[in-house]
Amino acid sequence: MDIEALKTSTGVTDDPARSGSLPAWAYLDPDVYEREKHELFYKTWHYAGWVGDLQAPGDYLTAELIDQSVIVMRGRDGALEGFHNVCQHRGHRLLEDSGRVAAITCPYHAWAYDLDGSLKRARATEHTADFDRGCFSLKPVRVEVLADKFVFFNLDPDAAPLGPRVEDYVADIRRELPQFDRLVKVAPRQRTEEEERRYAENSTIRANWKIVMDNFLECYHCPPAHPGFLRDLTFDDLTYTGHELWAKQESGTRRPDGDRQIFWTLFPGFVFWNSGTREKQAIHAMNFVVPEGPALTSMGRMDVYRLPEEADTEEWRPDWGDVGGEDKSLCESVQKGLASLGYDRGRVIHNPGSGNNEEAMHAFQRFVVRALGI
Ligand code: FES
Ligand SMILES: [Fe+2]
Repeated sequence: MDIEALKTSTGVTDDPARSGSLPAWAYLDPDVYEREKHELFYKTWHYAGWVGDLQAPGDYLTAELIDQSVIVMRGRDGALEGFHNVCQHRGHRLLEDSGRVAAITCPYHAWAYDLDGSLKRARATEHTADFDRGCFSLKPVRVEVLADKFVFFNLDPDAAPLGPRVEDYVADIRRELPQFDRLVKVAPRQRTEEEERRYAENSTIRANWKIVMDNFLECYHCPPAHPGFLRDLTFDDLTYTGHELWAKQESGTRRPDGDRQIFWTLFPGFVFWNSGTREKQAIHAMNFVVPEGPALTSMGRMDVYRLPEEADTEEWRPDWGDVGGEDKSLCESVQKGLASLGYDRGRVIHNPGSGNNEEAMHAFQRFVVRALGI
């Protein structure tokens, strides 16, 4: 399908009260998916981890983005550096997970790179004519730390810096979570067997990544589809705020302390929420979607941040029933439905001040349309 020919209109307009929702072809067409890779994912900012894990020179973490892998490294001069996680000899992957190294040594033929990405050793190259080590430095990747906590990367060398564009987002987080700056990343709680089984089942969804994000960003479906969720959250006071680059969903709860539940989303897919109380905050942060193909999506690794003095105590978590399993089955049904000859596109449900509102989803779809130029 020629996307250019379809550029006329997705039906997604600026005014949520009048906007259509994204048409089926935008979810199904493999050309759209390719375009999303290059124009959206490779040009936007993605979460990589906690800056506190990168304190000493040589501390590194790796992050995956569709078919790309990135290293974030604390350099000898104290600056954070980003590199594509690929050896310049024959393309082997360099580092896994996270840790500390004195040099980046390729497991294949042991080319060794300094912490600044320069190639410092290439075995047995004396007789290789005109071999210039200076031409084989690791390829750089843009890195930025958001809110003095979250490490982000962007594969686009010309991308606008993230921080200045989302100052209102960071200010909102700090206002709602007064202890935010004290939170540190902790080892995730051990899952029970039942949780592990559910996680394995629910963390891969046979649906396009935008279906998963759409579904996450609205609770219009909560009364019919998530009885367990609404035993904890109150639906009537659910509010949505949609911005150019982020969205916020907030509701009251039925918890004895009367805490509110807030989810923040930074487009395209960085999500975090406070699963503790306002006093004792615990946040869960993740790349909510990891596209695996046009019709397959995984959930990213979830990082947990807590107050240092709470790090060893049992983490309080709301009981939302099988909300993950319910969402998976909703998304997979929509994926099939979008391929139906009997479906074209729907409408954004606009209902400010009510839980029955798709305004945050609309903000996300506008972001997609702008990023793709469709
Ligand atoms: S591919 Fe890395 S040293 Fe050969
Ligand atoms: Fe849901």
